[in-house]
Amino acid sequence: MASAHLEDLLTALRFRSISTDSRYTADVLANAEWLAARLKADGLQVQMHPTARHPIVTARNIHRAGRPTVMIYGHYDVQPVDPVEQWQSDPFQPRIENGRIYARGSTDNKGQHMAHLCGLSDTLRAHGDLPVNLIFLLEGEEEIGSPNLEPFLQEQRANLACDIIAISDTGMVAAGVPTFTYGLRGIACVEVTVHGPTIDLHSGIFGGSVANPNTILSRLVATVHDAEGRIAIEGLYDAVRPVQAWEREAWSKLPGGAAETLALTGVPALFGEPGYTDHERRWARPTAEVNGIGGGYQGEGSKTVIPRSAFAKFSFRLVPDQDPADILKKVEAHFARYCPPTVRLEIKIGHSGAPYAMDPNSKFGVAARRALETTFSKPTALIREGGSIPIVQSFREVLGAETLLLGLALPDCQAHAPNENFPLENFEAGIRLNQHLLEALASA
Ligand code: BES
Ligand code: MN
Repeated sequence: MASAHLEDLLTALRFRSISTDSRYTADVLANAEWLAARLKADGLQVQMHPTARHPIVTARNIHRAGRPTVMIYGHYDVQPVDPVEQWQSDPFQPRIENGRIYARGSTDNKGQHMAHLCGLSDTLRAHGDLPVNLIFLLEGEEEIGSPNLEPFLQEQRANLACDIIAISDTGMVAAGVPTFTYGLRGIACVEVTVHGPTIDLHSGIFGGSVANPNTILSRLVATVHDAEGRIAIEGLYDAVRPVQAWEREAWSKLPGGAAETLALTGVPALFGEPGYTDHERRWARPTAEVNGIGGGYQGEGSKTVIPRSAFAKFSFRLVPDQDPADILKKVEAHFARYCPPTVRLEIKIGHSGAPYAMDPNSKFGVAARRALETTFSKPTALIREGGSIPIVQSFREVLGAETLLLGLALPDCQAHAPNENFPLENFEAGIRLNQHLLEALASA
């Protein structure tokens, strides 16, 4: 790998581009400005598009008739770094050890979009142009649900018209195994608050005659699953597309699965919906997770109190053909039904995004799989993923284009977690993938 490519990646990783935290707004902007300058240096036409929060950067070559228009999407924002004390080195001072680069954003998504950027650079420097009409779209709000990207797509629909979209922001099933993802789960977030007394109460004086919001909330949380792990919300599974026979068959032969999940997570035993394998549970079945919970005294020792309220933050992962709006209605009805009259229930609806599935045998799907095989010299695994990239469904709805998900992360890259890392080998593979991909799409 050219050392200039590694330098570019290191530079990108030093920006503290945490999109959710307004203390880092200037760092997010600096990252965008650097990307814009870097792309301009390659001779592309670059534009910075300010939004209400973080800018969108676009870069394009001169489009010519007779070539497909390919959009490559990436996100330069990152997740917060906490718990920061669990990092072995500063999350924004990239460290290389045993062939892996450790930094926040290394795998999600800087290592992956910078591989594409460097691949484009190499082609442009060698040939003066690319084999396709390119739109490179980089946003700084993916980790907060892309609130300004969809309006931007609507507004710029004509300028962003394209035949196909490629994103490297998903995983590979194992090191060296090229992986084509043809489906993503969607997401729907809600925060449930149970309000009890108007003030925190002495639990000795009032305990016994006033319902405790922590208790009520815990009972409500417990109604969401049955004893075996199925979601117990009425109608939640109505629109779920069953796992197809060919998927069962193909996924059963893949590396990973239950033993790997056990090893990666360190839990004493796995849990999940009866009748489904580990891959199926994570890629093709809906889930309900409590991402945060709170209420009452959290400090050292004990405090005898009935808290005035308690909350739980839920996210539901959705699969084709579940509709986030429909699921949210069912979730609201569920909590309303189980909440007793001794407390007041408040439900705040958060962000959501639809699930996605595309045809891996489409013309561009086949071309992308060929490019993966050329890059890694191995047969390609066909998978779905459990994570969400909500803008992918908007790309389909607004731009009428499908998305090729060509992930480069490994199962142990620790996205969103301390000591996030990315193998340099995958960075190099991504640079080659970009070149093979554009060639394959040009002749598809
Ligand atoms: N790169 C991930 C999405 C992902 C991860 C897809 C692993 C497939 C496998 C992305 O950056 C992400 O974390 N998305 C969020 C979306 C949410 C904030 C709307 C997610 O999935 O939680
Ligand atoms: Mn992410």
